[in-house]
Amino acid sequence: MQSYQKLLLANKLWAAEKLELDAGYFDDLAADQKPEFLWIGCADSRVPANEVTGTHPGEIFVHRNVANLVVHTDMNMLSVLQYAVEVLKVKHILVVGHYGCGGVKAAMTNKDYGLINKWLRNIKDVYSKHETEMKAIENDDKRFDKLVELNVMEQVKNLSKTTIVQKAWKERNYPHLHGWVFDLHTGLINSIIEILPGAEIESIYQYDFEETPTAELPQVYQH
Ligand code: CO
Repeated sequence: MQSYQKLLLANKLWAAEKLELDAGYFDDLAADQKPEFLWIGCADSRVPANEVTGTHPGEIFVHRNVANLVVHTDMNMLSVLQYAVEVLKVKHILVVGHYGCGGVKAAMTNKDYGLINKWLRNIKDVYSKHETEMKAIENDDKRFDKLVELNVMEQVKNLSKTTIVQKAWKERNYPHLHGWVFDLHTGLINSIIEILPGAEIESIYQYDFEETPTAELPQVYQH
């Protein structure tokens, strides 16, 4: 049997087990989703959102990319964020990095990795922003761990700089933003940062929604 065929077989067993425990399981699953959490995690195969948090299908809305980045021009991430915040109205957004992250490690080198250089550049910017702190750490492993943590912290801050999050904070006092780091050696998650609605954001990133009503758009754009 080919490896991928095992997945299909396992899927049949999984579905049968669910039905055995609850005959209406898939009717309920298909009816709706009301996840309370948005998970923005690394694409790494060792950090599956549901498994490490003991949650089930329907409980976490998930977006994953290399090194769990929140890049303000990333339409993919922003679309997930907008849907999660404005439609699903999630209460918590979890940016979840992990020690031993290959993306972060690659960004710490001077190697040319091709196209992914452009993505990893965002992590190099985090390093640059915290260069003094980074250079003060002599141990290579500890410096690597620190950049994983700083990267998560900056991505959580990036969330707070979006109009999507700021608008939701104003309208419903949610979502809470959390930065977590998963430890592959222990299976445990460390909480690194939490940003709550009303937190002070660097003024240049603050949006004043009242001053830009749609009614003031030029006539040509009105239908
Ligand atoms: Co990773």
